[in-house]
Amino acid sequence: MKDLFEKIYKDKGPLGKWAEQAEGYFVFPKLEGPISNRMKFKGKDVVTWSINDYLGLANHPEVRKVDAEAGVKWGSAYPMGARMMSGHTELHEQLQRELAEFVSKEAAYLLNFGYQGMVSTIDALVAKDDVIVYDVDAHACIIDGVRLHLGQRFTYKHNDMESIEKNLQRATKVAEKTGGGILLISEGVFGMRGEQGKLKEIIELKKKYNFRFFVDDAHGFGTLGKTGAGAGEEQGVQDGIDVYFATFAKAMASTGAFIAADEEIINYLKYNLRSQMFAKSLQMQLVEGALKRLDMIRTMPELKDKLWENVNALQGGLRERGFDIGTTQSCVTPVYLKGSIPEAMALVKDLRENHGIFCSIVVYPVIPKGLILLRMIPTATHDMKDIDETLEAFSAIRDRLENGTYKRLSAAVAEAMGDKI
Ligand SMILES: Cc1ncc(COP(=O)(O)O)c(C=O)c1O
Repeated sequence: MKDLFEKIYKDKGPLGKWAEQAEGYFVFPKLEGPISNRMKFKGKDVVTWSINDYLGLANHPEVRKVDAEAGVKWGSAYPMGARMMSGHTELHEQLQRELAEFVSKEAAYLLNFGYQGMVSTIDALVAKDDVIVYDVDAHACIIDGVRLHLGQRFTYKHNDMESIEKNLQRATKVAEKTGGGILLISEGVFGMRGEQGKLKEIIELKKKYNFRFFVDDAHGFGTLGKTGAGAGEEQGVQDGIDVYFATFAKAMASTGAFIAADEEIINYLKYNLRSQMFAKSLQMQLVEGALKRLDMIRTMPELKDKLWENVNALQGGLRERGFDIGTTQSCVTPVYLKGSIPEAMALVKDLRENHGIFCSIVVYPVIPKGLILLRMIPTATHDMKDIDETLEAFSAIRDRLENGTYKRLSAAVAEAMGDKI
């Protein structure tokens, strides 16, 4: 019989196999210093474009004060136990009421983490007779939630209305046989490429097909819509979203998440969400901190205005210089370049070491072979100096990519990696 660990010794997994070349630099980098537009990487100042602190709340003095005071008041244990047993408080309820009101839903329920909350919500919403239809580019937490489903599921081509309709037809046929219903899941904003989900068009399809619509709006909440209530508000269709999800890990600059829906649905989820029924409640410091952050999102529209000023300057500047930034419709700013993985590594090293620019790099298998995606997240803390320096740096690295500098620099790496690439 095989040793269970044999496969682990042989195969480190699709990302783990890069550990030797990448760890500490391309993956698991240590950004140091206060969270802001400029931080330290390996002792050097860098402009940071890889932190989802959209509104600049992470290190805002008012937020830091509330977080610190709540820490002193409650410690990190309170409340002990799961919500249902001994972890329920008035402040949890208040935060839920305020979140629900902000996203124009009847009720909301808190989740400890967005990831496990999404998994658990999908699990609670469907039974084995039901059918799930979801975007092929969906976030890992949606994919993992779907994995728990014992019934049928169909993926549709990313944001492709023809494919969505075709899969709704297939799902309808199955559901008619099983006697179940259909759950359609999209993201409000797709976090890699920045396109908004086609919420409006999908909701239009409700006239033809019978399904419920679940939206993961991790990147839309706080950044899109007149009041910052997200992609549904931006597209004028919040009412058509049956279950709305957002995390506190991005515009709210914290930890935790929530779902919002009609009261009856939230009451059902409250009693059926395994991630909340069998896990310790969101701690008080996070609850008080979230109340403060939500208040700032509501009352300080200048934060979102500043964010968008920066988004427009960065995306406009990149477009002017002829960079391919795809079809983003959000703050997420992808830059697509052509090159191999070793070239991408040399390029990112150059960006960080010689230009002081820190952004995330995405390569195959997340995107097609031969493409390099540099993903930038502008925030309200960036300024024009950051943007100008970044645009200059990007022009310089593109020249070096095109004149073969990175190919030469990375030849040894390419050879060492051999068939791993
Ligand atoms: C689209 C999307 N959904 C869910 C999550 C998970 O949220 P959390 O970080 O709160 O677990 C993320 C990442 O943070 C995300 O990008």
